[in-house]
Amino acid sequence: MSERNRTGVESTRRTSVTGIAPGRVNLIGEHVDYNGGRCLPIALTQVTHATVTPRDDGVVRVVSGSRSWEGRVGRLDEAEQWASYVTGVLLALEVEDGVDVGISSDVPIGAGLSSSAALECSVAFALDEVFDLGRSHEEIVAACVRAEQEYVGAPTGGLDQAIAVYGEASQALLIDFASGSREQVPFDPSAHGLALLVIDTKVSHTLTDGGYGSRRDEAWEAAKALGLSHLALASDLSDLSGALLRRARHVVSEVARVDAFVQALHADDWEALGPLLVASHVSLRDDYEVSCEELDVAVDVAREAGAVGARMTGGGFGGSAIALVPTERVEAVQAAVTTAFVARGWGRPAYILAEPGRGAWIEDQPD
Ligand code: GLA
Repeated sequence: MSERNRTGVESTRRTSVTGIAPGRVNLIGEHVDYNGGRCLPIALTQVTHATVTPRDDGVVRVVSGSRSWEGRVGRLDEAEQWASYVTGVLLALEVEDGVDVGISSDVPIGAGLSSSAALECSVAFALDEVFDLGRSHEEIVAACVRAEQEYVGAPTGGLDQAIAVYGEASQALLIDFASGSREQVPFDPSAHGLALLVIDTKVSHTLTDGGYGSRRDEAWEAAKALGLSHLALASDLSDLSGALLRRARHVVSEVARVDAFVQALHADDWEALGPLLVASHVSLRDDYEVSCEELDVAVDVAREAGAVGARMTGGGFGGSAIALVPTERVEAVQAAVTTAFVARGWGRPAYILAEPGRGAWIEDQPD
């Protein structure tokens, strides 16, 4: 279909486009993105597909498995929560046409593996292509963050959308939220006889139910008390006490751990990584207080069964832990964690062997 876009330029509008974007695990650097710190995520090979087909009747229809939502442009703020990840992107990208959006995904939902950013970014890539919007990757990341913060109502920090767009196979991505800079850091555990095991506790994780937002507020309060724009800039914490001191101590120590982790990767010193993962978990558990019993058990039991290091990943309050495990110990670690969960009367966790995958792309289509 050939037509003029909003700038009046003749363009080729494709009839149906599929955008694809990955989930992620954050290796280290948790709850530091909105504090102006550094973090080190990888994109997963688990991805979301969003197929966008333009319609000329102003109707917006979102279909995902057995769920569907239908509304109209101009009234997208009425979308149900699950569909608002899609309508939020339409609003943030200022798309004023009707669309059908079909979604399928193998990124587990609510597991702290960023299924929301995978959805937002796959939809944004497809919309950009189908409507010839010409948005840069930077603009797409910003639109997806806005969609989540303003339209979904999750006050997240931008890490998830950045890795969903900029991830590269066999690499982790060092993101500095103070300067906006990014650096690919080679990450290939299998070359060192290790596997990155994701342990999904199946404890439901949501970023809109207050825990995440209250940590963000406390961090902001701590930065304000120190006269700083962002907590990651802090060095002297002596003016803080109680919860605000603990939150600040986590942020400052976590950023130092990210730097040490990256240095160790550059030096090919994989033995240094395990203790840094463990220290990160302890800090998130005791100082930032975003872990939960299931995550703590997953981490402790994984280590006892042979993991060289383990920690919760993502926003916390449930979701997943990651463990760096010698390849020959993976089955033993999984068995030990499952046994520990069952013994406590909890549901069985799910496991994924994570491989660093690529960031979002458009599916090739025969013309
Ligand atoms: C969630 C948020 C991210 C980040 C992490 C914690 O995944 O979406 O922005 O804050 O929690 O590191």
